[in-house]
Amino acid sequence: VKVALYGPGQLGTSVARILSQRRGIEVLGPYGRDRRDDALRSGADVVVVATTSFLTAVAPDIRLAVESGSNVIVSAEEAAFPWAVDAGLADELDALARERGVTIIGGGLNPGFAFDAFVVTAAGPSANVSSIRVQRIVDLSGFGETVLRRIGVGHTPEEFAAGTSSGAITGHIGFPQSMRVVAGALGIALERVDREISPLFAEREHRGRHIVVPEGRTAGFEQRYLGIVDGNLWFEALFTGHLDPVSIGKPPRDEIWIEGDPPLHYEVVPGFNAQSGSSALIANSVRRVAAAPPGWLTVADLPPAAPSIEPERPHEREQ
Ligand SMILES: NC(=O)c1ccc[n+]([C@@H]2O[C@H](COP(=O)([O-])OP(=O)(O)OC[C@H]3O[C@@H](n4cnc5c(N)ncnc54)[C@H](OP(=O)(O)O)[C@@H]3O)[C@@H](O)[C@H]2O)c1
Repeated sequence: VKVALYGPGQLGTSVARILSQRRGIEVLGPYGRDRRDDALRSGADVVVVATTSFLTAVAPDIRLAVESGSNVIVSAEEAAFPWAVDAGLADELDALARERGVTIIGGGLNPGFAFDAFVVTAAGPSANVSSIRVQRIVDLSGFGETVLRRIGVGHTPEEFAAGTSSGAITGHIGFPQSMRVVAGALGIALERVDREISPLFAEREHRGRHIVVPEGRTAGFEQRYLGIVDGNLWFEALFTGHLDPVSIGKPPRDEIWIEGDPPLHYEVVPGFNAQSGSSALIANSVRRVAAAPPGWLTVADLPPAAPSIEPERPHEREQ
């Protein structure tokens, strides 16, 4: 399988590293903006776009890769369920992918697994599900500065308030996408998704790998998204991101509560690693995306992302 990567940042680099160690996979890139065509027009079996979070920014890249005959995996959070952002654009690219016989999928760890694919699987042992609650507490200290500032870290109280109201500060992106993936898999009509974000101010200096945050600025944030069905809370998603979550009494963890028959509670300790988890999930999606039916699919349409390798052939072992 030939895989070309566009976006030479943290994610693209580590996905390339994982794949280059796998038998049967040829890796091209990761390429940056100056070598866009080498990635997107490569005609590789799978093109991985690991650049930004936003659908409108990645759409031209997806279009070019699909027109060149490649299946596409996109890390952009909004691409996990693009109809939640721009249904016209999502339908257009879905139709193009079907016409060209290739698959587009948006995914990573979150969205792509923690709040959606994993939740769908977790609901399997329950005969009926009445509501779902998920919670992630994430150590943000390994994130790059650009991403940290955009999600809400390193700001004064005034900057945080202005940024969240203008949309320049986004918090973690992808909750509505995850909720819609789960709703689709369970056959639920989601009415709307409500949201809140609040700052967590540093009570002392915090040092991440790429940022230093003095006392009084945001060292993290809390988000609460509420998915409403028939006027009632159906899906609650809580996300705490902090440069040192242990220091605020919240060690990293992932939890899922399924209210149903029977009720279920899952805990992942110390939680999925945001960086290594995302790169593994994307690397582990290459084979399932190459084998998937055409169109813009969601992670709920695919078999699980497994770290599968091409079986060793006997004659290779003898050499
Ligand atoms: N779904 C998930 O679970 C998941 C997981 C991890 C990451 N992500 C998302 O995936 C994206 C990449 O993550 P990362 O950690 O690798 O970020 P990163 O370290 O900041 O790297 C992003 C790379 O993409 C390039 N880039 C940014 N915008 C671009 C554009 N519009 N066109 C072409 N190249 C562009 C950047 O180059 P320049 O320096 O030239 O801008 C940089 O090389 C982020 O938006 C992140 O939020 C999603």
